[in-house]
Amino acid sequence: MIQQQTLLTRQVVVILLLLALISSLISAASLANTNIPFPKDFRFGAATAAYQIEGAYKEDGRGLSIWDTWSHIPGKIYNNQTGDIADDHYHKVKEDIALMKSLGVKNYRMSISWPRILPTGLLKHGINQKGIDYYNMEINELVRNGINVAVTLYHWDLPQYLQDTYGGWLNSKETVQAFRDFSDICFAHFGDRVKDWITFNEPFITSVLGHGCNDWAPGLGCGSSPAGNSSNMPYMAAHSQLLAHAHAVKVYRDKYQQDQQGRIGITLNSNFYYPLTNTKEDYEACERALLFGFGWFADPVFFGDYPQVMKDFVEGNRLPLFTEQEKRLLKGSVDFIGLNHYTSNYIGNRKSPLPPVNQRTFNDDQRTEGSSYKNGVPIGPKAESDWLFVYPPGIRSMLNWIQKRYNPQMIYVTENGVDAPGESSMPISQALNDTFRVNYLHDYLTEVSNAVMQDGVNVKAYFVWSMMDNFEWTNGYSCRFGVVFVDYNSPNLTRYVKNSAKWYSELVKPYN
Ligand code: NOJ
Repeated sequence: MIQQQTLLTRQVVVILLLLALISSLISAASLANTNIPFPKDFRFGAATAAYQIEGAYKEDGRGLSIWDTWSHIPGKIYNNQTGDIADDHYHKVKEDIALMKSLGVKNYRMSISWPRILPTGLLKHGINQKGIDYYNMEINELVRNGINVAVTLYHWDLPQYLQDTYGGWLNSKETVQAFRDFSDICFAHFGDRVKDWITFNEPFITSVLGHGCNDWAPGLGCGSSPAGNSSNMPYMAAHSQLLAHAHAVKVYRDKYQQDQQGRIGITLNSNFYYPLTNTKEDYEACERALLFGFGWFADPVFFGDYPQVMKDFVEGNRLPLFTEQEKRLLKGSVDFIGLNHYTSNYIGNRKSPLPPVNQRTFNDDQRTEGSSYKNGVPIGPKAESDWLFVYPPGIRSMLNWIQKRYNPQMIYVTENGVDAPGESSMPISQALNDTFRVNYLHDYLTEVSNAVMQDGVNVKAYFVWSMMDNFEWTNGYSCRFGVVFVDYNSPNLTRYVKNSAKWYSELVKPYN
């Protein structure tokens, strides 16, 4: 009797296993196709950033950054979450790299935490050797596993000391010099293995959200202080970051590039914009929005100065001026241009009257009105994040716009991806079946392919955001952008491969 029962149990187990196998085969087969044409030498990869995944915020001599401070202020982040532990990547780095390798990820974009290398941000206070050791270990491990490394030097985690002592990006003199030293240290220690350097990630966001009263670290711009207010601070912060970029590039080109044979660039974010109505004013408003967003940083690094439309529209001497020497330093200061692109929206010419000059915000200065909706209809399906609506053709238009205006030799899509709706609140098994993300990636990559293969845009690389779920800034862990799921409820933050990772892994195979 007992034997018969065991036999029966075994048969049931075998049947269940077979059913699971069949269902996984069906679900793999039903994933969108991966046959999207790209040039043979196109590079596919995945991206992350230090504060969003590392954790270990007080370990091994790391100093505090503005995001440590900001996330610890009650009420600033969803559910008061912080990056203290994040994905604990600091301790799980080898495991994560093994996972990347198993997925066939050949290019990895990571960022280096400035306060891990220079705890106060300043060279004169000493280099944290343990920080150097950590990144050496990580980079060696990546290289040993056949993964090329692209490093972002500034992904928003400014050392708190620089903020407190000098006002951070509001002070170009000290902070620019400090960034130049930090970059120099990174090139010297890691440049033999890092072949792509990105000076800044989305300086627009640091400037407008961090210094324009938008609840983002360092949280400046609300009310006025001796340094300024939301009317001029974003422009000051942007100006410093541009100068810091130019100085870091000069250090790289003068001291390292010839030996190390790497490339250096900057990553800028932009949506693409479509006119709210079919009027000349609205078309012009779209162009203005692109120039105020992308052009604010791209014009200086390609042409040496801000777009004319910004000089005309930002009244009252709030847009700082570059000296002739600074213009020369900036002009041509990129080997590649990085684009972070997720969504598109509608833009119209501003109809409401402008406030007095000294009370105008960055948005006022653009004289545009934006929306994700037209006549109550969204531009595309909404993701989890409030700002993200799926509109694949936008990436092709954006890439063409960049090619036309700047004619760059190399464009890297340094981020593109999506947070699938409801992924944080559904059972893990359901979250892993992330068809929304698979379709998003399929459709956006098809448009990138069209830009490259049909329009002749010089896109050379694409990094999906993100390798794994992570701390999504003010949204904490509620928005999941990963192709790998991180179970924040399990004590060791177990990783699970989502269907999108399997799909991406198939797509990149021919290019590995
Ligand atoms: C851009 C940022 O670089 C990254 O840190 C962020 O997580 C993603 N966009 C998604 O919002």
